[in-house]
Amino acid sequence: MFRKFRRTRLNKNLRSLVRETRVDVEDFIYPLFIRSGEGIKTEVASMPGVYQMSIDEVLKECDELKSLGIYSIILFGIPDVKDSVGSDALCEHGIIASSIRTIKEAHPDMFVVTDLCFCEYTDHGHCGIIDHKHDTVDNDSTLKMSAQQAVVHAKAGADMIAPSGMMDGIILTLREALDSAGYSNVPVMSYSTKFASGYYGPFRDVAESTPSFGDRASYQMDPANRREALAESIEDEAQGADILMVKPALAYLDIVREIKDNTSLPLAVYNVSGEYAMLKLAQKHDLIDYERVVMETMVSFKRAGADIIISYHAKEVARMLRSR
Ligand code: PBG
Ligand code: ZN
Repeated sequence: MFRKFRRTRLNKNLRSLVRETRVDVEDFIYPLFIRSGEGIKTEVASMPGVYQMSIDEVLKECDELKSLGIYSIILFGIPDVKDSVGSDALCEHGIIASSIRTIKEAHPDMFVVTDLCFCEYTDHGHCGIIDHKHDTVDNDSTLKMSAQQAVVHAKAGADMIAPSGMMDGIILTLREALDSAGYSNVPVMSYSTKFASGYYGPFRDVAESTPSFGDRASYQMDPANRREALAESIEDEAQGADILMVKPALAYLDIVREIKDNTSLPLAVYNVSGEYAMLKLAQKHDLIDYERVVMETMVSFKRAGADIIISYHAKEVARMLRSR
């Protein structure tokens, strides 16, 4: 008699055996926000469970992450002083460079990724140097400063550089700068397809990086454009990116799949601040089975084709995976 295989999957073990997609603690990169000082651990109002931390707290956080099996972090810096060109980002004693050195010294087994941009360091909050005549970001002078920033990160011990500003030609520029400074072994993970998105709202609170005028539409992508989204990532592959990325994640799973099918590079998704905040708020109001929805969301990223998930949920997911 014809019997559907589906029915036999009522068995839990068989269900595991035939499952097509798995989420693993090793898929994750955990974002950390670092500011100067000591003993600082300030929770972000719009993102419960996410903190601005001073470096001593970050070191403790690394212990906890490792105990959960998370060995990859991405660093964001909040400098004491912001100026028109984001000088702190170019300084070997700036918040990120000094943090990398301290983290790598205490935790050499941590894989330290740095977000490379200027919006956290500039007083105007844009991702690069402003061309005042046109009130826009000047692509080419931003490239030059980005090259400097990349070398500062690499020199401090960064394991991977992740440029998030979406300037034209950034990947080739960074690759050449890193190679000629002797860091050809440091890979570049490009925020290759980054949409101009409302989902970054809470991040701009925590990183204190809301633009003081205008928006980022001149250098981030229109959410309506699918072909352009693919072209941007493929262009970065051609320029020498080692890993591609789609950001945000949840509203763009079609783009994730499309890029995955058109590249041989590993693909990351950034499960951004607004996506996290929505689930946290729903949890707070008891509107959803939170853990179930978080897991379902992570599975959707992997199923769409992501190899790497950058997520504020990483620690929670690690605990869930452990308790199963
Ligand atoms: C900096 C940067 C942003 C994010 C990551 N890197 C903010 C932005 O582009 O406005 C957003 C991450 C998040 O929302 O969690 N360019
Ligand atoms: Zn930026």
